[in-house]
Amino acid sequence: MKTLVIVAHPNLESSRVNKRFAEEIEKYENVYVHRLYDVYPDETLDIQREQELLLAHDRIVFQFPFYWYSAPPLLKKWMDHVLAYGWAYGTGGDKLHGKQLIIATSTGGPSMAYTAGGYNQYTMSELLRPFQATSNLIGTKYITPFSVHGVRAYSDEEIKQSAERYAHYILNSK
Ligand SMILES: Cc1cc2nc3c(=O)[nH]c(=O)nc-3n(C[C@H](O)[C@H](O)[C@H](O)COP(=O)(O)O)c2cc1C
Repeated sequence: MKTLVIVAHPNLESSRVNKRFAEEIEKYENVYVHRLYDVYPDETLDIQREQELLLAHDRIVFQFPFYWYSAPPLLKKWMDHVLAYGWAYGTGGDKLHGKQLIIATSTGGPSMAYTAGGYNQYTMSELLRPFQATSNLIGTKYITPFSVHGVRAYSDEEIKQSAERYAHYILNSK
């Protein structure tokens, strides 16, 4: 099983969580970590390269900090252009069929905020529906997402432990 981790963080240098997560998962064999904002500082994507990367892997992870209940903009741009008609969906668009997709996010809001009646009113499962619908359309298996919450209050030790949990989840979830 080959895993591609697409990290979409606009400022990984100042990140505590996503930076550490990427470094942790990178330690493992058969995992390729692709830091979108580092590879494309001017945000001009090489679509063919991105599609080749997807074809070469079985499990695809979108890892990002939750921004405005969604992903940072370069990942949306990546989806708009890389998941093309006739390639990822539509007539002949079967290139990703049978692969797996995992969404992995960190949130500033605590876990209680992501409950019915909580501060944000909606659960992560609900808020991540556009990714689930995308997965359905491109024919990938949608694996239960991985989320860490309330990360601003995390100690260095808590970040280390959650990075290990993250790597374990990415490598073992079914
Ligand atoms: C532009 C922006 C939008 C954000 N939107 C949300 C949000 O919708 N929900 C939330 O819980 N946290 C939100 N946050 C907090 C980030 O999710 C949090 O800082 C991030 O997950 C921390 O990860 P990092 O250490 O890798 O940067 C936002 C932060 C920024 C800068």
